[in-house]
Amino acid sequence: MIAISVGFQRYTYELMLKHNEFVVSFPSAGMSAEVELFGSQSGRDIDKLKISGTPVQTATLIDGVLLAEASINYECILKDSMIT
Ligand SMILES: Cc1cc2nc3c(=O)[nH]c(=O)nc-3n(C[C@H](O)[C@H](O)[C@H](O)COP(=O)(O)O)c2cc1C
Repeated sequence: MIAISVGFQRYTYELMLKHNEFVVSFPSAGMSAEVELFGSQSGRDIDKLKISGTPVQTATLIDGVLLAEASINYECILKDSMIT
């Protein structure tokens, strides 16, 4: 089990509640451009995966994609959420 903190105004938060699953990716050293893009633009406005061109692969346990160049990808199912 892992706990993460996502701003409730984020598009990510909306998608996590809608689909009940998500991926947590730990970027590798060569992914600084992706980190900057993913961390500063909203998926509401642009297709971040398409614009970055970062390679992806299909997840095996959930309906989603993994970042192929990440150090680790965790395929996650949302078990609980709380607003503080
Ligand atoms: C290094 C880094 C770490 C971040 N960590 C978080 C975080 O833990 N929780 C969060 O809600 N936003 C975090 N952000 C901000 C979001 O990534 C940013 O608001 C992003 O544009 C949200 O995209 P979305 O609207 O598609 O969800 C982080 C940004 C950066 C650059």
